[in-house]
Amino acid sequence: MTYAAPLPERGTFDAWRIAARRAISHAIAPADLEWSGAGGLFATRPLPPEDGPHQVLVPQGFVHLASSVIWHSDPERFALLYQALWRLDRHEGTPLSQADPLGRRLHLLAKNVGRDIHKMHAFVRFRECPAKGPRRRFAAWFEPEHNTLEPGSTFFAKRFADMDWMIATPRLTAQFEDGKLTFGPAAPRPDLPDDASESLWATYFANIFNPARIKLDAMRSEMPKKYWKNLPETRLIPDMLKDAEARVQRMHAAGASQVRPGSAAISTRYRAAMPQAMPPTDTLPETLDQARTAALTCRRCALCEAATQTVWGSGSGDAALMIVGEQPGDQEDLTGRPFVGPAGQVLQQAMTAAGVDTGKVWLTNAVKHFKFTPRGKQRLHVTPDRTEVEQCRWWLGLELAFIRPKVTLALGATAAFAVTGNDAPLAARRATVEQGLHEGPVLISWHPAYILRLSDPVAQNRARDELTQDLRAAFALAQG
Ligand code: URA
Repeated sequence: MTYAAPLPERGTFDAWRIAARRAISHAIAPADLEWSGAGGLFATRPLPPEDGPHQVLVPQGFVHLASSVIWHSDPERFALLYQALWRLDRHEGTPLSQADPLGRRLHLLAKNVGRDIHKMHAFVRFRECPAKGPRRRFAAWFEPEHNTLEPGSTFFAKRFADMDWMIATPRLTAQFEDGKLTFGPAAPRPDLPDDASESLWATYFANIFNPARIKLDAMRSEMPKKYWKNLPETRLIPDMLKDAEARVQRMHAAGASQVRPGSAAISTRYRAAMPQAMPPTDTLPETLDQARTAALTCRRCALCEAATQTVWGSGSGDAALMIVGEQPGDQEDLTGRPFVGPAGQVLQQAMTAAGVDTGKVWLTNAVKHFKFTPRGKQRLHVTPDRTEVEQCRWWLGLELAFIRPKVTLALGATAAFAVTGNDAPLAARRATVEQGLHEGPVLISWHPAYILRLSDPVAQNRARDELTQDLRAAFALAQG
């Protein structure tokens, strides 16, 4: 007679732990335990109602491994874990080691589960539903390969704590309401509302899709095909792939490999350069103004904590020339406008001297929050670090995508790095044109604050003249 240990679909891990402890405390051998509990080949009886005399001491490594393996869809997972526990208890070999066939198999299952959870975090796409109260509501349909909704949902609960949402899967439904996460039985695939942002995702994806750069293997390994059907942006992939070769030829024939300035929408490389994927519910702004509004509440890095406000770019929304500085200074932080302080005055003077029509310019910064260190009553400028610049590229990329300037003028090393991805020293690059990550031309020049720091008046005048020359050249290029 074997014992049956049926396990629930929800709370499976805790239920397995209790049942395994009970079985081992009664020295029930793995061969005498049927985890499905459905009464297979042999007649079964339930586990004893109380723990037996033998207490098992479980190493932490096993609990860790089991807490992952348990969510795999392999029907043997419970039995395999129990076998490992049995052997650990009896000191039979090293069942958790990769050198042991059982250990190897368990680690492989755990790895698959980890991957599945990772894919869920990357590929769940929420759609907004009508709200019932003050909290916004979202719903998503997802088809994980394993039973990963339960372990995978805590991530969403943390990230989207201030909204209600549900994720339906073929096996289980996760519901997050008023800050409480619960799991219910599988519901039929919900009829999710059409989402304006969905077609936007698709359009966006089609725009950034560059057939000449397709790396199918990389694409498939990052975004396996089985997820494509539920991702709005990938619905276009098969058609785009079909047309890819012809498009590459058309691009060559049209000379499109000489990229039209500003034509690339948000370049794939801007996205690739972003250290973390966009949160799934981040709606891609549809206009420059929407991007500005979104940037006002940006928390992509820690600079927002101390700064007064986001300093968004200013100027003409269809400027031919975009001028990018480093970050707002003290006065910019207080007024919310770029280049209004001492460095801004140097820039304004150089623009006037260069005959730049300010109505045709967009002025902005690589980083949108002021980074400083307090010194007495003063706030002293601190150069933003690489991560901060990379985080803020999201906003700079949107400004470039919506404004589509013909030319971008990068002032100083931070701006040059933000726009081109190249962090080589500035002196040798000044007055040269490089290709930006958005694929448009980028002229490099001095930062006005650097000019102000030059103590030698001769050197300072020379640098002012050079900035003026660069502005003149950039504006002429933009006009042409
Ligand atoms: N320096 C910059 O780079 N940008 C500003 O807006 C002000 C000073």
